[in-house]
Parts: sequence; structure tokens; C-alpha cells
Amino acid sequence: MNIQISPVSRADVDAIAALARIVWQDAYPGIITQAQIDYMLEQRYNTLRLLEELGMPNLWWDKVTVDGKLAAFASTLTTEKRDEMKLDKLYVDPLRQRLGLGGRLIAHVSERALAQGCTTLILAVNKRNEPAIAAYRKNGFVVRDAVRVDIGNDFVMDDFIMAKSLH
Ligand SMILES: CC(C)(COP(=O)(O)OP(=O)(O)OC[C@H]1O[C@@H](n2cnc3c(N)ncnc32)[C@H](O)[C@@H]1OP(=O)(O)O)[C@@H](O)C(=O)NCCC(=O)NCCS
Repeated sequence: MNIQISPVSRADVDAIAALARIVWQDAYPGIITQAQIDYMLEQRYNTLRLLEELGMPNLWWDKVTVDGKLAAFASTLTTEKRDEMKLDKLYVDPLRQRLGLGGRLIAHVSERALAQGCTTLILAVNKRNEPAIAAYRKNGFVVRDAVRVDIGNDFVMDDFIMAKSLH
């Protein structure tokens, strides 16, 4: 198995959006409604938004390929706190989960966060997303806070904020 981590390019955006749909349809039914899945996918993975994000200076998109095929992706961004970086997205193809790819991406983005002078990596995860919470705990994150964020159209993100110290 040839596993590579590299930056997402403009040529990848359709494949990223397609993989996001596959992962979300596998992970989120039972946690959020289908209407919220569709709304959030459209909001976060439309072509224009992805292309825009690829051009942003304080936001990084990374992908994992396994034998040349897209298997996982992550995005990270700086926050208003200078010593913190946020892991904004982390998604692994259901066929490739629990093979360590998520852990590798967390290690990869942690290195970058450190290189940018950050000492903490944070993320938001749905309170009912128990497999992901377990994966984050295994990778050194602890729950720091709980938030409810209104994202429009009567949808709410009911999340834990988890943090990992990079020292
Ligand atoms: C959560 C996710 C990113 C983890 O990535 P991954 O590549 O599957 O995780 P890893 O193989 O690096 O797992 C590391 C450890 O996390 C824990 N873990 C991972 N998936 C788990 C699951 N479904 N249930 C319980 N523990 C899990 C395990 O302890 C695992 O180690 P082990 O397999 O040796 O026991 C991935 O499973 C995923 O994309 N899930 C669906 C989408 C999602 O919820 N993303 C997070 C959004 S905030």
C-alpha cells in the first residue's frame, strides 16, 4: 500500500466533494437529519467555496492517497488565537477507516501547527459522533467545551470543542 499525504489542488475539488458526500452519508444519518447533511455539504463543499479556500493564506487542505486514489482529506486554519490552529475537517473514506489514515493526518497537521508557532490544535465534533470522539481521544484530544452554533435554516451544530496540546 502506497500512502501519500500532499496538498489538495484545484484539480482535486470534485473528488473531494464526492468523497465528502460518501463519508457524510455513512457517518451522519442518525446524528443529524438528511436535510442538514444536504445543507451543510452544499455550504461547505461547493466548487466555488473549495476553490476559494485553496487560495487562502491561513487555510490548508491536505489529502491522503492510497495507491494513487483519494482516501482521506483534512483542512486546517488559523484562529483568532495566535497559539491555536483549528482542524476544521477530517474525513476518511469508510472503506479506509481505522487503518491509521486519520491519525497520520492529525500528525501531519500538528507538525504544521507547531511550525506556525501554535501550541494547541482544536476541533469541533458533534456530541453524538462517538466513533470520531473516540478517535480524537486516542489521538490526544480532550473535551474542552460544549457549543451550540446556529448555522441558518433552523439548523444547529451541537458540538464538543476538543483540544490537543502540541508541546
Ligand atoms: C473519525 C475519523 C476521522 C478517524 O480516522 P481513522 O483513519 O478512521 O482513524 P485511525 O485509524 O487513525 O484510528 C485511530 C484510533 O481511533 C479510534 N477509532 C477510530 N475510529 C473509531 C471508531 N469507529 N470507533 C471507535 N474508535 C475508533 C481507535 O482507537 C483507533 O485505533 P485502533 O483502530 O487501533 O483501535 C474517520 O473514522 C472518519 O472519517 N469518520 C467519519 C467522519 C467523521 O466523523 N469525521 C470527523 C468529523 S469531526
